[in-house]
Amino acid sequence: MPSLSFLSLLASISLCASGVAAGVTTYGTTELAAAAKPSPTLCVGAVPCDLNVLQPMANPQQPASQAVPVQLYSGGMNGLSIPVAGSFLGFSIEMSVANRIIGNDGNKLIPTFLNLMSTITSRAGKAVLRVGGNSQESASVVPAGLPNGTAVYKVPNPNPAIKQITPTLLISPSLVYAMGNISSLLPIEWFIGLPFNDTNNPRRELAEIAQKVLGKNLIGMQLGNEPDLYSGNGIRTNAYQPSDFTADFGTFLQDYKNDSGVPNTNIFVAPSVCCGGSGNGWTPEQVFDTGFLTDYGSNLAYISVEHYPANNCNESGQVVDPNFVMSSIYLNHGAVSFLNQPYVNTAQIAVSMGKPLIMFETNTASCGGFSGLSDSFAATMWGIDYSLNMAYTNFSNALFHVGGESDYYNPFTPPPTNQTEFRHWTIGSTFYTALVIAEAFGSSGNARVVDLFLNSASIYTPGYAIYENGTPERVVLINYLTDPSGASNYTAYISVGGNGTNTPGATPSSVQVKYLLSPSATEKFNISWAGQTFGGPFASDGRLLGNDQIYTFPCDTNNNFCAVTVPAPGVALVFLSSNAFKESAPTTTQVFSTSTTGTTRPAITVTIPQAVLATSNGRGGGNWLGLGSTSPGSSKSLNSSSRMRVSVLLLVCFASAALFGSALIIR
Ligand SMILES: *[C@@H]1O[C@H](CO)[C@@H](O)[C@H](O)[C@H]1NC(C)=O
Ligand SMILES: *[C@@H]1O[C@H](CO)[C@@H](O)[C@H](O)[C@H]1NC(C)=O
Ligand SMILES: *[C@@H]1O[C@H](CO)[C@@H](O)[C@H](O)[C@H]1NC(C)=O
Ligand SMILES: *[C@@H]1O[C@H](CO)[C@@H](O)[C@H](O)[C@H]1NC(C)=O
Ligand SMILES: *[C@@H]1O[C@H](CO)[C@@H](O)[C@H](O)[C@H]1NC(C)=O
Ligand SMILES: *[C@@H]1O[C@H](CO)[C@@H](O)[C@H](O)[C@H]1NC(C)=O
Ligand SMILES: *[C@@H]1O[C@H](CO)[C@@H](O)[C@H](O)[C@H]1NC(C)=O
Ligand SMILES: *[C@@H]1O[C@H](CO)[C@@H](O)[C@H](O)[C@H]1NC(C)=O
Ligand SMILES: *[C@@H]1O[C@H](CO)[C@@H](O)[C@H](O)[C@H]1NC(C)=O
Ligand SMILES: *[C@@H]1O[C@H](CO)[C@@H](O)[C@H](O)[C@H]1NC(C)=O
Repeated sequence: MPSLSFLSLLASISLCASGVAAGVTTYGTTELAAAAKPSPTLCVGAVPCDLNVLQPMANPQQPASQAVPVQLYSGGMNGLSIPVAGSFLGFSIEMSVANRIIGNDGNKLIPTFLNLMSTITSRAGKAVLRVGGNSQESASVVPAGLPNGTAVYKVPNPNPAIKQITPTLLISPSLVYAMGNISSLLPIEWFIGLPFNDTNNPRRELAEIAQKVLGKNLIGMQLGNEPDLYSGNGIRTNAYQPSDFTADFGTFLQDYKNDSGVPNTNIFVAPSVCCGGSGNGWTPEQVFDTGFLTDYGSNLAYISVEHYPANNCNESGQVVDPNFVMSSIYLNHGAVSFLNQPYVNTAQIAVSMGKPLIMFETNTASCGGFSGLSDSFAATMWGIDYSLNMAYTNFSNALFHVGGESDYYNPFTPPPTNQTEFRHWTIGSTFYTALVIAEAFGSSGNARVVDLFLNSASIYTPGYAIYENGTPERVVLINYLTDPSGASNYTAYISVGGNGTNTPGATPSSVQVKYLLSPSATEKFNISWAGQTFGGPFASDGRLLGNDQIYTFPCDTNNNFCAVTVPAPGVALVFLSSNAFKESAPTTTQVFSTSTTGTTRPAITVTIPQAVLATSNGRGGGNWLGLGSTSPGSSKSLNSSSRMRVSVLLLVCFASAALFGSALIIR
C-alpha cells in the first residue's frame, strides 16, 4: 500500500509544523479537519482521482549488467548537442482552457500556477509557455471583453448533429493582460497560437494585442497548427497538400505584414507538422521542399514540429492496451531514440539556418493519454529520457501539452469548474519531468547533451552526460525497471579521463546526487524529487513540500571512479562539480499567496524579497510568514491575511494527508 509511508513522509514535513511553532494564530484542529476532508465534488468522476493503477512492466529475463561504466572526457566528446538552456522544457497550454490555468485577467492571476512556474524559473532561469493548440484555429478576439469577467468562452455548437471539431472560441484581451502580468512577476516568455482556419478572415487581433501587451516577452507567434491534419479535421479540403499550406502561409504573412499593429513579423513559428511517416501526415521536409524556408525562413523565430508517440483516439475502434505500449513505447530507450530519428535531418537544417528547432506540442499520447500510464511515474521517466534525447538530437526546446481536465497526461490540472480553492490543484507525474530537466541543464545556457548509450545500449537503463564549455558537469541515469528487491538496481562507475583514455584522470573527489524516486513505475502520486513532492490529487498550492535531500558520495580518486547506485525504478542526477550543483540549485523560488477579495478567482497579492525567498523552498518554511503584500485591500488587514497564509500552509499539509488517506481506503 503505497500511501502509508507517504503519509508519514508528509507528516514529517517541517513546513507543516513551522507555522504553529512560530506562534502565529491558526485555525483550530476541528476547522482544519473539516477543511481537509476531500471534497466529494472534487474527486467524483475526476481524472486525477482515477484509481486505475497498472501492473509495472515485467522485468527482462536476461537483466542488463548491474555494474555500468560511464566514461567521460575532459574537453568534450563526440556527439555533443548544440548548447541548450535550462528552459528547454516548457509547457503548451490549450487555448480553450488557458484562463483556467493562468487566470482571467491581470488582476486575477492564480497563485498555484505562479508557484508552479516559480519552481521552474528558479532552476532554469526562465520558463517558456505557449497558449494555443487545436482550439486556436477558431479563436476570435472580442476587443471589448467577455461577459462575467471570463477570458475564454467556447460558443456551444449550434448544431450538434454536425461534427464540429473546433467550435468558435471567443477570447478577451484580458487573457493576454494576464500573460503580461505573469511575465512581470516571473521570467516567463510566451508563444501565442494564431488562427489559420480562414484565409479570407485572418483575425489578426490576437497578434496585435499580444505584440502590444507582451512586448519582448512574446517570443513566437504560431501560424498553422498540425496543418497535415487539416483535411482530416475538416479545416481544409481533402486535397490539402504541403504546397497549399505554403501558399496559405504566404497569404497570412502578407496580411500580418500589412498590419501596422503587428510591427514584428519575424517571430513566426512554423510549420508545426505532426505526423510525417505515419498515416497521411507530412514530414517537415515535405513542407520545406515546396520553398517554405526559402520564402519565409527570415520570418521565422523557430522551426517547429509537433508529435505524440501514440494516440488514444480509438479511431480504429481498437482500444490501445496501455500495458502493451508501456514497454514498447515508453519504458524503452530504443523506442525513445527511434522517435527522434526522423528529426535528425530537420535539426541539421535548422542548425544550418541558425534557427532553433522546437517540439511545439508533445506528451505521452494524444486524445488525452492513457489512464494509469500517462499519469504515472513511467510518464515522468519517459519524459526525462525523451527530453534529453530531443536535446541530443539538437532540438532547442520542447513543450509538454496541458489540455482539459479529462486528460491523463496533464503536468498540472486546476480543480474542476469554478472552485475557488487555489490550493486544490493536481500536479501530474509529467511535471516532475520538467523539474529534473531544468536542473539537468542548469541556467548557463551552455548545456550540451550526449546520449551515452549506457550499459551496451540497454533499453532499460538510459544515461546522458551534460557538458558545459567542454567539461562534463552532470550525468542523468535512468532505471526503467521496477524491482523492490533491489536486484535490478544498478551502479554507475563514472570516470572522467584516466582509465583507457590516454588523458589524465580528472574524476572529482566527490559528487552530489539528487534522486527522483517512486516505489513503482506505475505509481501516480508517491513521487519525490530530491525528497520533495507536490502530494496527491487536488492537494497542491504549487509549492514543493518537504526538505531537500541531497546525497554526497565520495569518489575513489586512486582508481578514478565515482560509484552511484540507481534504484529500480528511479532517476539519478549526478553533479560532477559544486559549480554544476550551484548553477541548478533553486535559490529564489518565489511564493505566491492570495487574498480573499471576494473574486471568484483569488487575486495575486504577494511578491517577496529574495532574501526571504532564499529559505522558502521547503527549507525552514516558517519564513513564508509575515511577507510584504502588494495587493489592493490586503494592507488594511495584515493580521487576517497573515493568518490566512498560515492556515493555507497547514491545509495543504492536511489536505494531502486526508486525500491520501481516502485513496488508501478506496484501494
Ligand atoms: C513512497 O516512495 C518512497 C520513495 O520511493 C518509498 O521509500 C516509500 O516506501 C514509498 N511508500 C510506499 C508505501 O511504497
Ligand atoms: C576505471 O577503472 C576503475 C579501476 O579499474 C574501474 O573500477 C572503473 O569502472 C573504470 N571506469 C570506467 C568508466 O570504465
Ligand atoms: C496587468 O493587468 C492589468 C489588468 O488586466 C492590465 O491593466 C495591465 O496592463 C497588465 N499589465 C501588463 C504588464 O500586462
Ligand atoms: C453570464 O452570467 C449570466 C448571469 O449569471 C448568465 O445568464 C450568462 O449566461 C453568463 N454569460 C456567459 C457568457 O457565460
Ligand atoms: C474559422 O473560424 C471562425 C471562428 O470560429 C469561423 O467563424 C469561420 O467560419 C471559420 N472559417 C472557416 C473557413 O472555417
Ligand atoms: C498588402 O498590401 C499590398 C501592398 O500595399 C497589397 O497589394 C496587398 O493586396 C495587401 N495584401 C493583403 C493580404 O492585404
Ligand atoms: C472504441 O471504439 C469502438 C468502436 O467504435 C467502441 O465500440 C468502443 O466503445 C470505443 N472504446 C472506447 C474506450 O472509447
Ligand atoms: C547536433 O549538432 C552538432 C553541432 O552541429 C553536431 O555535431 C551533432 O552531430 C548534431 N547531433 C545530431 C544528432 O545530429
Ligand atoms: C459554481 O457553478 C455552479 C453551477 O454553475 C453554481 O451553482 C455554483 O454556485 C458556483 N460556485 C461558485 C463558488 O461560484
Ligand atoms: C536499491 O535501491 C533501493 C532504493 O534506493 C534501496 O532501498 C536499496 O537499498 C537498493 N538496493 C541495493 C542492493 O543497493
